[in-house]
Amino acid sequence: MRYGYFDDEHREYVITQPDTPLPWINYLGSEDYFGLISNTAGGYTFFKDARLRRLTRYRYNNAPLDMGGRYIYLRDDDRTDSDNSLFWSPSWMPVRRPLDSYECRHGMGYTVIKSKLAGIESQTRYFVPLGENLEIWEITLTNHRDQSANLSVFSAIEFCLWDALDDANNFQRNYSIGEVEIIDNVIYHKSEYRERRDHFAYFACSEKLAGYDTDREAFLGPYRGWNSPQAVEAGRLSGSIAHGWQPIGAQHIKVRLKVGEQKKIIFLLGYHENPKDAKFDPPGSQTINKKTAKPVIARYLNTDQVEEAFIELSKYWDHILDKFTVHTPDIHTDRMLNIWNAYQVMITFNLSRSASYFESGVGRGMGFRDSNQDLLGFVHLLPERARERILDLAATQLPTGGAYHQYQPLTKRGNNDVGSNFNDDPLWLVLSAAAYLKETGDWSILKEPVPYDNQPGSEEPLYRHLQRSIRYTTERLGPHGLPLIGRADWNDCLNLNCFSEAPGQSFQTTTNKEGKVAESVFIAGLFVLAAKEMAGLASNLGEKGDMEAALIAAEEMEQAIWKAGWDGDWFRRAYDDFGHVLGSQENVEGRIFIEPQGICIMAGLGIEDGRARKALDSVARHLATPHGIVLHQPAFTKYYVHLGEISSYPPGYKENAGVFCHTNPWIMIAEAMIGHGDRAHDYYLRINPSAREQISEVHRCEPYVSAQMIAGKDAAGFGEAKNSWLTGTAAWNYVAISQWILGIRPTYDGLRVAPVIPSAWSGFEAIRNYRGVRYIIQVQRKGPGGTVSLKVDGKPVTGNVIPLPSAGTKEVHVNVRLA
Ligand code: GLC
Ligand code: GLC
Repeated sequence: MRYGYFDDEHREYVITQPDTPLPWINYLGSEDYFGLISNTAGGYTFFKDARLRRLTRYRYNNAPLDMGGRYIYLRDDDRTDSDNSLFWSPSWMPVRRPLDSYECRHGMGYTVIKSKLAGIESQTRYFVPLGENLEIWEITLTNHRDQSANLSVFSAIEFCLWDALDDANNFQRNYSIGEVEIIDNVIYHKSEYRERRDHFAYFACSEKLAGYDTDREAFLGPYRGWNSPQAVEAGRLSGSIAHGWQPIGAQHIKVRLKVGEQKKIIFLLGYHENPKDAKFDPPGSQTINKKTAKPVIARYLNTDQVEEAFIELSKYWDHILDKFTVHTPDIHTDRMLNIWNAYQVMITFNLSRSASYFESGVGRGMGFRDSNQDLLGFVHLLPERARERILDLAATQLPTGGAYHQYQPLTKRGNNDVGSNFNDDPLWLVLSAAAYLKETGDWSILKEPVPYDNQPGSEEPLYRHLQRSIRYTTERLGPHGLPLIGRADWNDCLNLNCFSEAPGQSFQTTTNKEGKVAESVFIAGLFVLAAKEMAGLASNLGEKGDMEAALIAAEEMEQAIWKAGWDGDWFRRAYDDFGHVLGSQENVEGRIFIEPQGICIMAGLGIEDGRARKALDSVARHLATPHGIVLHQPAFTKYYVHLGEISSYPPGYKENAGVFCHTNPWIMIAEAMIGHGDRAHDYYLRINPSAREQISEVHRCEPYVSAQMIAGKDAAGFGEAKNSWLTGTAAWNYVAISQWILGIRPTYDGLRVAPVIPSAWSGFEAIRNYRGVRYIIQVQRKGPGGTVSLKVDGKPVTGNVIPLPSAGTKEVHVNVRLA
């Protein structure tokens, strides 16, 4: 069953009924100011950091679901009889009065919610203009009645007292600190501004206000909710001023619409900072200095400026999505690559795992391994920003070569609460740096001085950071010569040194073992991959010694894997603190895992001698399901103290044998590497959100973006997705389909084209911007596809890499024959 449809031409998903199985959301904002918005206008807003600079409140895990957001109420003022009062939410929530029509269009950086009731049509467009720290809600009202209409329009948001964690905890303080100012029609939220904050929020409207409220209770009425505010019901706001308790922004506009008349109203919610020494106006007072905020507010209360800003935003997305477009025989491939997968990659790049409808925005900052992987799918979209991100991440590396597991986006400092010792973390930096270099050829990045742990004076060139990453692993090997796992490897929930017996302890940060025994085959595979990248990088730099050292290290690790990490039919997963194997025929539960199959083959292991094929056949036999490939089998049916969080989840969920989508593209890549285009693309489609659209009642999450997890075959809810949007699945799916299945892959020496496509495809077309040149690529199948021959601008070239064209070239035509 579907709840909407794709409008590919406009790059939108159109939701046609408001009660989707879960809130289906979108993101607003491109750089510093971000918002989440659901199909019924739920959600919240923050500046840079969802924990430290939250502008508006949102309560997770609420009933009803998704309560709190950017609310507009419409009231029919022609009905004077109060028993017969009619008010509604044009976004359906929070009032939930049935609408005569409803449609929500989620697009690239904007959402439009359109509905009709009692002859009044309303359309609200929400977006964040580029380069601004504000959001616009532009509502267009149309009177379709055969008589004029008197309406009241109300807006409402609830301010957050900036630190979202404290806001939801420290009520003894925060019930007393709320402060606002109302000047010239604008509501300013200024809690803590008098003391150590130099920022405030504003809520403005293009129309003259008939009234406002800033105190929540005055607006809602005692013991009432957002579904039936007393003030909306009565058609009158009371001009309340918040002193402590819950400051809100609510505005009232009276509108008279003639027959057929249309009217636009703009609401602006924004964030503004003042210099420390210019916070007050007049100086010495406690009143906000609004000199620099006012022009910004004035500008965006103008409908022409708003239209212009919206056009700019569309151009920005044209520019980004234009970097790579494809036309294949499969609609799901096209739609995801050209639109939604690229979009999701941008969102994960911006927000890592910090704020979604499943990530509360208070716990998880920017993940070191996560952001490095997100970059793999993002780097070609905005390389300048990828460069900055690599340097920021490297600056949170520790002198040991280890890394903080997370950092706060506002401060860019490593998070001490979570700390380090996730032993895979540093290796991902090598992969992201290599991807950046292959994309851009900007070797200067390796010379950039970068500190350790952000300590001034500790700077070394990025190249040294990468070397420390490699050394971090080789200095931490276990009894089988495999890398020690530390707190966890890619799988946060495989906590082999934790042994936690106390409820509530964090599996990730509790360490009860010395950590000298438990080893990870996954890190071993990742190490081989990273060391080979390091060798390629060093060789291009002319650092022959470094190159050889990296190759030797990779070779030694490969030997260790074949000796202790190969089980006969697949790669093993780990050795626990007792030195017992995991992910082997010997195990009763957890006999085979997906991760080492993916990563070891991606590192090149077993491709020549058939062992890769064997491992992938085992994946197909034991792990693949119609809803994707599960993480391991058999699922853990009880808690194993020596394995940690993985065995804490009920079977089939999350890391306990769920379809943890992030890992599936590794198998697609591995299949493509051994030439299995059919299998690779089949796996791709099993978790492709668009291909799952028709089973939305089972999948339940948004059909336009990937989710972290789809419940596995051991779960009651087999096939149900959870934790949509912020997942490494976005970047890896993008890499798998674009670089390995379609085979268009940057190298140090040029763009490689080596497709491994399904046998039913007769070819495809792609346009790829690469180092300032537009490559127009036509692929035609003339045979089974084992060999690739290229013609570049009509001339045959040897191999499958398109040589870098001479300076000044703008466009290159490539014909590819698969024979
Ligand atoms: C989450 C984490 C990621 C981890 C994965 C598997 O997605 O963000 O870092 O690799 O879970 O545990
Ligand atoms: C939990 C989640 C896992 C996530 C980890 C990190 O263990 O199950 O997916 O990566 O937390 O916070």
